Amino acid sequence: MSKYTSFTPGELWLDDNGVHINAHGGGILFDNGKYYWFGEHKTEGESGNMANVGVHCYSSTDLYNWKDEGIVLSVDEENSGSDIEKGCILERPKVIKNKKTGKYVMWFHLEPKGNGYKGALSGVAVSENVSGPYKFIKAVRPNAGCWPVDYPEYLKNKPSKAEGINFPGNYLPESPDSMNIVKRDFEKGQMARDMTLFVDEDGKAYHIYSSEENSTLHIALLSDDYLSHSGIYTRNFSGRFMEAPAIFKKDGKYYMMMSGCTGWDPNQARSAISDSILGQWTELGNPCINDTKETTFDSQSTFILPVQNKENTFIYMGDRWTPQNAIDGRYVWLPVEFENNKFEIMWQDKWAIK
Ligand code: GAL
Repeated sequence: MSKYTSFTPGELWLDDNGVHINAHGGGILFDNGKYYWFGEHKTEGESGNMANVGVHCYSSTDLYNWKDEGIVLSVDEENSGSDIEKGCILERPKVIKNKKTGKYVMWFHLEPKGNGYKGALSGVAVSENVSGPYKFIKAVRPNAGCWPVDYPEYLKNKPSKAEGINFPGNYLPESPDSMNIVKRDFEKGQMARDMTLFVDEDGKAYHIYSSEENSTLHIALLSDDYLSHSGIYTRNFSGRFMEAPAIFKKDGKYYMMMSGCTGWDPNQARSAISDSILGQWTELGNPCINDTKETTFDSQSTFILPVQNKENTFIYMGDRWTPQNAIDGRYVWLPVEFENNKFEIMWQDKWAIK
């Protein structure tokens, strides 16, 4: 097998067995000198968008060449009635390490089988070893019975206009506040779809997810063991329908990249900056330069990776979805550049880390 010495965004990317890497909607954890890439294992055809297998992991020391570490979280058998039964939707898995407990914790977007995207749950699994196997613990609607930070008193007491209504996921007839979706979901927990995780320098971990019918991005502090939500969470970009959140920290500032809400079709990326992870976030606009089609170079963000031992070196990781044949989805990795407190992403046919 020839060794890769560069990235070729959008092309087939073969693992150590010569098979196209199967880790979509993924994220990376650096652990004990190696990078571990976790993502959705997709199968052929349109039904391959569903979780028929589980979460796939690969490892690498140079980020170009990836060794297949196998399926680290398997779906349960058909008709098992499990939340993660074969045929469920299990998307955007991310893994973080808890230094206090020594455990590896995986969170993902979960839609139990047969109910489309109505469930809006978050699943959590845990392992003693980075490359698994991960044991599924539970699926939840985050922060049940807890109000967001600074939720206005009058809304806490006002009936929700959204009661009993299903929305399409990219539209609300009125603003999220006016619909008062937080109140509708207060008892059972807030909706959670597209997501990522972030561990800050102080060891606190955050779960960032599209909530309130996708209209508003919640940033939630996890418990000390990272296995549940702490009840502290903020509402961000209300009414902006942000999806595909990817976050990183540089020089004490937090940056986020997100997409709009157009399903598998790519749209123009968005970016934002904040002094505090829980907000206030300020939007910085489209980070892509010369993206003439305004489609994030035909991709959707999933993660922004800090490269180890290289100062200010970050890689944008995106998915180029192929929903008709899910397994053929491609990876678009591009360098992140910085310009006046903003970050920028430019297309490269072929590139290497400097
Ligand atoms: C996208 C989302 C993907 C997947 C897809 C399904 O908006 O980012 O993770 O859920 O919709 O249509």
